Amino acid sequence: MSAAALRVGLVGVGGVCSAVHYPGLSLIDGVEIAGICEPGDDLRQQRQRQWGIDAAFAGIDDLLAEVAPDAVSIATPNVYHKELIFAALEAGCHVICEKPLGMDFAQTQEIYDRGKASGRRHMTAFTYRFVPAMNYIRHLVQSGALGSIRHARFQRLQDWGERAIGWRQYRDQAGSGELGDMGIHRLDFAEDLLGPIHAVCGHAKQLVPRDRTKEGAPCPPQDVEDWIAWIAEFASGTTGVFEMGKLAKGHGPGGDHDLAELNGTEASVVYRLHAPHEILFAPRGEPYRARAVPEEFLKRPGAPRDPAVGDPVVTFRYDQAWEFVSAIRAGRDCIPSFWHGMRAQAVADAILEAAATRRWVDIPDCPV
Ligand SMILES: NC(=O)c1ccc[n+]([C@@H]2O[C@H](COP(=O)([O-])OP(=O)(O)OC[C@H]3O[C@@H](n4cnc5c(N)ncnc54)[C@H](O)[C@@H]3O)[C@@H](O)[C@H]2O)c1
Repeated sequence: MSAAALRVGLVGVGGVCSAVHYPGLSLIDGVEIAGICEPGDDLRQQRQRQWGIDAAFAGIDDLLAEVAPDAVSIATPNVYHKELIFAALEAGCHVICEKPLGMDFAQTQEIYDRGKASGRRHMTAFTYRFVPAMNYIRHLVQSGALGSIRHARFQRLQDWGERAIGWRQYRDQAGSGELGDMGIHRLDFAEDLLGPIHAVCGHAKQLVPRDRTKEGAPCPPQDVEDWIAWIAEFASGTTGVFEMGKLAKGHGPGGDHDLAELNGTEASVVYRLHAPHEILFAPRGEPYRARAVPEEFLKRPGAPRDPAVGDPVVTFRYDQAWEFVSAIRAGRDCIPSFWHGMRAQAVADAILEAAATRRWVDIPDCPV
């Protein structure tokens, strides 16, 4: 691509767009936020003022017709991803879309097929692949420093309270509960580190009704799982144990728990989101010690941010935009692409099936 500006449209400008997509894209030279699309009038106007953007629309069709962006970044409730992706691809845009890519495996297959056929760049926003500690652990696994990984654990425990949590608690808007919200990231980075999962068994629960809004008004109760756990057998022979939930007292604001631990034949290693610039490392026969993530893994090569600036638990997320833009400029596939979004959903659907039927379920093939 030439030095001409890459013109990007932001579709859905709520929480994650404001915290991750907008600042990440804004850091990159030659990227212009050309327009936004948001049905909420107050929020749309607020973002226009905040970001100094003229072109703002309630629906994607107007954004695509009036602004003709080169690329769009989609960060809406999950139920809208497919129709918005299809509209953007139809208009010739490159697309980054939030996770979970679709509502279920069948829908993500349609999305991947459409993305592949379009010849445009397509990316799933699996943000945690970009944590510096994760970059370093990926290197340690691939270089053989851990030996072969015998078993691994992945935990995401939070306390969001017992009141309603908006669209995330309804199957017709989110597809699933904790699995699609937090679990799908862990499926993606577990397969990134350890290779494909070939079978799962699992257990899911709905522990509370969440039938009161934050302000205490009645609202329809949730109809998705709010706690989920599963065991995964990887094709490599590694066994992974996963647990996610937003009702874990003690893990409230400031106490989020996000951990991955790999136990290999030569060494063990721990990732903790809240210490993103270090890992815990233990060679055979020694206890864990903290080890700083080496400079070369603190950000993606060429990324415009300075890892020493800002809150490191937040700023690594901007490298996701850099991957998207770099892939567009280089004419190469994004990693993770829509294929990875589809692949993680294949495993997610198998976990729900395993939990519902109380048995092990094999993961279907996902041809590239
Ligand atoms: N990658 C991550 O770490 C991460 C973190 C948070 C959320 N997410 C994902 O991002 C997406 C959005 O989550 P959020 O927390 O920002 O939600 P949010 O509710 O804060 O924001 C979503 C916005 O999309 C808007 N919207 C709804 N329908 C739309 C449409 N048809 N066109 C354009 N805009 C529309 C809503 O009005 C809202 O402002 C979800 O898919 C979620 O799973 C990912």
